[in-house]
Amino acid sequence: MSIRWRLGLAAVLMLAAAGAGAEERRITVAASPELIESGLLKHMLPRFSLKTGIRATSVPLEPGIEAEVLIGPAVDGGRPVFRGGETVYLAGAGAGAKQALAGRFLDWLASEIGQRTVASFAPDGKALYEPAADAKVEVKGPAVTGDALAGERLALVNCGRCHVVGEKNRMGGIDSTPSFAVLRTLGDWERRFRAFFTLNPHPAFTQVPGVTPPFDEARPPPIAPLEITLADIDAILAYAASLAPAELAEPLKYE
Ligand code: HEC
Repeated sequence: MSIRWRLGLAAVLMLAAAGAGAEERRITVAASPELIESGLLKHMLPRFSLKTGIRATSVPLEPGIEAEVLIGPAVDGGRPVFRGGETVYLAGAGAGAKQALAGRFLDWLASEIGQRTVASFAPDGKALYEPAADAKVEVKGPAVTGDALAGERLALVNCGRCHVVGEKNRMGGIDSTPSFAVLRTLGDWERRFRAFFTLNPHPAFTQVPGVTPPFDEARPPPIAPLEITLADIDAILAYAASLAPAELAEPLKYE
């Protein structure tokens, strides 16, 4: 991968992180085809739009689809939202850039109103889906490469002075900094970890050789700098994937 391309990627990630607020109020919800066929999405989306003023359209969920929200039985990092027969459906943020709008939808769906909307869908007088925002499911992490054990060590050394990264520094970190387990509850945690060096506060003290520009000499890092390679970040990602997301009483609102 050329340096120029990597710089471009970092810039795109930064723009994606910064642009969420200004975006058009419209989202795409990718859902398992059976949910679209049953009419559930047609029932839900207008009610969501009425409440929030955010327009939402549905498309069938398929691998690699670009959408703000994903709903299906195997959405990586998703949280349970309703049950249809034996199947627990999970909803999570997709790779679309409008993370804030995706968050609005996910919060709405897990809220009392969202859950009641699901329960009230009864096309032939019989409810097809049960609310399940409280259900516990084993959520499989995304397929990540890298060595999770090495990743744990790298995370402790490089991130552990601020973040609680796991059991080994449970009492460490800085209170105001989210733990890795909390970050793992975010639908797009993987994107955030991959791009952490572009997300505040990290750019001020982080260097990724061949990717980030050197520190501005006029503004040296305010704290001991952190230097880390893309391979190390892969390993930390593998470690983060192995962590159970924190169980939060309230869905996390983290922009
Ligand atoms: C000097 C302290 C410090 C170090 C070292 C540090 N972080 Fe952070 N990190 C923070 C703080 C503070 C936040 C919360 C920022 C906020 O709330 O906006 C954060 C947030 C994050 C986020 C979420 C960012 C977002 O905007 O979504 C990720 C991912 C992350 N850190 C990963 C890492 C990884 C991986 C490492 C180690 C390689 C690391 N951090 C090292 C202080 C640090």
